[in-house]
Amino acid sequence: MARLELNGKQYELPEVVGSEGERAVDISALRNNTGYITLDEGYGNTGSCQSTVTFIDGENGILRYRGIPIEELAEKSTFVETAYLLIWGKLPTLQELEDFSQLLTKNEMLHEDMKYHFEGFPTHAHPMAILSAMINAAGCFVPKLLAPGDELFVIQAARLISQVRTIAAFSYRKSLGLPIIYPKPAYKYTANLLHMMFSEPYQDYELLPEVVQALDMIFLLHADHEQNCSTSTVRMVASSRANLFACASAGVCALWGPLHGGANQAVLEMLEKIHQSGDNGSKFIEQAKDKRSGKRLMGFGHRVYKNYDPRAKIIKKKCDQLLDAMHWNDPLLDIAKRLEEAALNDPYFLERKLYPNVDFYSGIIMRAIGIPINMFTVMFSIGRMPGWISNYKEILDNKEGRIYRPRQIYQGPVENRYVPIRERQ
Ligand code: ACO
Repeated sequence: MARLELNGKQYELPEVVGSEGERAVDISALRNNTGYITLDEGYGNTGSCQSTVTFIDGENGILRYRGIPIEELAEKSTFVETAYLLIWGKLPTLQELEDFSQLLTKNEMLHEDMKYHFEGFPTHAHPMAILSAMINAAGCFVPKLLAPGDELFVIQAARLISQVRTIAAFSYRKSLGLPIIYPKPAYKYTANLLHMMFSEPYQDYELLPEVVQALDMIFLLHADHEQNCSTSTVRMVASSRANLFACASAGVCALWGPLHGGANQAVLEMLEKIHQSGDNGSKFIEQAKDKRSGKRLMGFGHRVYKNYDPRAKIIKKKCDQLLDAMHWNDPLLDIAKRLEEAALNDPYFLERKLYPNVDFYSGIIMRAIGIPINMFTVMFSIGRMPGWISNYKEILDNKEGRIYRPRQIYQGPVENRYVPIRERQ
């Protein structure tokens, strides 16, 4: 129990303890009892929900999905199996995994009429805008949208996970004016995406196992990250009982921003600029420390991790392995490593606990695979879909859940009168 003293009066506030020992003060009755609200701009100290999906210990660089460390999943699991784990809360049996994979395959095709929607976008449209619009549009092709406890949930979840990949590939082909390539049911999830993006009607794309595995791992590592900006957005929209497709579409928009998922695009653009300018990275580091420059070391820093992002460690290793396997010598990787080394020895970054995050090396892997920069955040969205769906499910399953509706402290003009236009100065 926490004690709060306000204007000489004492109040008791219940304590909530999480399964990993995280502690919170429950202030849900604060306004009713005291007339006060709490103010926490940017929500750095606000727990918006109690969740059973993902655990992060930012101080110690720990990330677990449903209790399983990310390192173990990256080594032993696949994206599809991890999606199942996140959404249903347990690892699937062989049969359950097989059924889920089949459901993904069954739902991979878009309704043929959706092809006309793609034609309406200008070729220079950002694929994240197309993705968000088309995910929402995909909801129009579902005969019945979900209600709480609905048995259709499993089908719609599979449909969304499967179709987000088809939409992503179609929007990529559209941006290049290339013919659309349909999915191949015989291919597994990530191989199928690469096929839809890079095959031609006259020639199948050669699937290198190292490439498929690296991209699958990127999806797995991005699959959830508790209450980040886009997941909180999905939960916020879901709390109004909006449908799954509308919620996921909102999540894509939130993810697009350069301070969130858009950082993977921003990192590559930053590395390219440094490379073109002939700087070895040291000039840029100085600029990133100077607030007046308006520059930041993209791919560094995290609201929650005050230590090395565990995903960044895994991705860095995978990046070295893939580039070796492809005999690819990327000068941007050398710049990234130099920037990392410089930052990790610089008091500015050390004092602020700024370490590489998941976006710092993922772009180099995607570039080696041949994925264009403006598709990077789309890849992130594909990976994050199971996390959004798991969080959507928690909202839907919580019968006592209320609509999300934060309050504010108003700082605008006090009561004022309307002045007719001719009398205004
Ligand atoms: N480069 C230089 N300085 C930085 C950086 C950076 N990448 N990140 C934070 N700082 C500095 C800030 O200027 C601030 O300095 P000050 O204390 O002297 O004012 C201090 O570190 C704290 O930064 P905040 O912005 O308050 O940290 P916050 O938790 O709000 O932001 C964020 C976290 C958005 C990730 C930030 O670190 C950032 O902009 N990083 C670069 C973008 C990025 O890589 N985003 C991806 C995040 S991971 C993801 O979404 C998947």
